[in-house]
Amino acid sequence: MSPSPPLSAELRQVERCYQRGQEEVAALRTLDWKVAQGRWHAVRGPSGSGKSPLLHLLGGLDRPTRGQVLLARRHIPEDAGPRDPLIDLHAMDDEALARLRRTEVGFVFQSFHLLPTLNATENAALPLLLDGVRESDARQRAEHLLETVGLGHRRGHFPEELSGGERQRVATARALAPGPSLLLADEPTGNLDRVQGLEVLELFSRLMADHDMTIVMVTHDALAAERAEQVHELDDGRWLPR
Ligand SMILES: Nc1ncnc2c1ncn2[C@@H]1O[C@H](COP(=O)(O)OP(=O)(O)O)[C@@H](O)[C@H]1O
Ligand SMILES: [Mg+2]
Repeated sequence: MSPSPPLSAELRQVERCYQRGQEEVAALRTLDWKVAQGRWHAVRGPSGSGKSPLLHLLGGLDRPTRGQVLLARRHIPEDAGPRDPLIDLHAMDDEALARLRRTEVGFVFQSFHLLPTLNATENAALPLLLDGVRESDARQRAEHLLETVGLGHRRGHFPEELSGGERQRVATARALAPGPSLLLADEPTGNLDRVQGLEVLELFSRLMADHDMTIVMVTHDALAAERAEQVHELDDGRWLPR
């Protein structure tokens, strides 16, 4: 038997239900998923199929109603317990989970979520500053990442002076700042025209090649999903059989 490939994350029998009035609505239903490390995964599905809830669980922004979410760690803290390569998010308290989220996971959102009063460098440096990194070091790393995403010449610009595609690339630089191993992108091309969307997808494929990244991108855009290495189809909270 060949050894199983390293995993970046794993879902085991995950369910996520929401209370809507008296009714319990299942957004995700008994999902299993072994997220192979170092790959670009797309999760495709119509609006309402559970894509965002899935991403929030993977990034530790939310907890499952039932089942387990496990995440690989690159930055193993000094005080970590047994060196289990995959850690069960359920076993972590809120503070530990917040720390894990800041260091291991980068988020890119459909509507960028940049702070309008900060320029590109300051936006990209923000997670580092929040994590106590010295300002000059944070700035240097942010500038380096802006070069990486092709925006070195825009580093002093404010979000409103940038195109949508440029904003999304600043947001990607920000997501990469703490050096996460897992990049989670929720409809990253959803607010972009075709050309700008392609720029962002191009950037993702370069990140895959040049960095040791795992990307999980959820999208209902078939063209965007095609650029990924593996496409998984979600429908009403379940995987569609392949
Ligand atoms: N925070 C929430 N509270 C209540 N219901 C939610 C919440 N997040 C998602 N849902 C429900 O879960 C289902 C799937 O989530 P949704 O975000 O619509 O998926 P997608 O990202 O695929 O469009 C929907 O029925 C939605 O109403
Ligand atoms: Mg969504």
